[in-house]
Amino acid sequence: MRPPRVFRPAADSPRLLRVRSDDRVELWTETVGTEPSVYGERWAYSGSRSFRSFEPARSKLSAGLVREWRGPVPSEGERWLYLGAASGTTASHVADLVGPAGRVYAVERSLRPFHRLLTLALRWPSLDPVLADAREPRSFSGLVPSVDGVYADIAQADQVEIVVANAALFLREARGALVLALKTASMGRDASAPQHVRRAEEELAAGFDLERSVRLDPFHRGHYLVGGRARPELFREARRARATPRRAHSPERSRR
Ligand SMILES: C[S@@+](CC[C@H](N)C(=O)[O-])C[C@H]1O[C@@H](n2cnc3c(N)ncnc32)[C@H](O)[C@@H]1O
Repeated sequence: MRPPRVFRPAADSPRLLRVRSDDRVELWTETVGTEPSVYGERWAYSGSRSFRSFEPARSKLSAGLVREWRGPVPSEGERWLYLGAASGTTASHVADLVGPAGRVYAVERSLRPFHRLLTLALRWPSLDPVLADAREPRSFSGLVPSVDGVYADIAQADQVEIVVANAALFLREARGALVLALKTASMGRDASAPQHVRRAEEELAAGFDLERSVRLDPFHRGHYLVGGRARPELFREARRARATPRRAHSPERSRR
């Protein structure tokens, strides 16, 4: 396939390309991978460079960008921790965005998608699959270095606590980035979707300077992209928790 007519690199992420086509904007990533297509996306070539369409109906990050997300976007040379990589639909695009000099540590806990992710990583040199539970960040801390950004799409009731724990452990302290694809349907029926988003924002605001959240409907119903940049408070709190000595286990106490 010939490349789309006008490739315009995004200012904050040069491997992300916007293409205006009639009345809409298409997103493409300059890829580090090789064919075949991962999820039915289109491929195009220009000289030695290859590109893949980044489909908003398949990826919450792409949908957020289409809905004018102004927060952090993975960029060339960066290291990102990706929680809930599944079989790599979005993680492969994040690996494209960080390019050959960057790295994506893609955490997934379910074996079936993880197996597909492993196979995909053979064709995506900057993608590093990690089979682990994101609720236990210390269990994979030997495999993941300090990162520039954390992206999470885990659709769990405690998704906010999970990303905060991972960000406090892995994010670089100077304005590290957080992008959370928040699934409000996983957060209980006691509140509406906008109320869940407000609660998540309130929780995150203690450790992050947040950007305006964007709603991902109609691409992903009930989902929002939420995130921003880390503040020193995020790490101070985590350091305090680490410094507080745990009580010695007392059989006397546990019998009571
Ligand atoms: C909505 S899917 C992710 C889709 C993927 N981010 C994409 O856009 O291609 C959510 C994934 O999170 C994974 N997940 C849920 N809880 C997790 C946890 N605690 N640790 C690691 N992965 C988890 C699930 O197994 C599932 O594959």
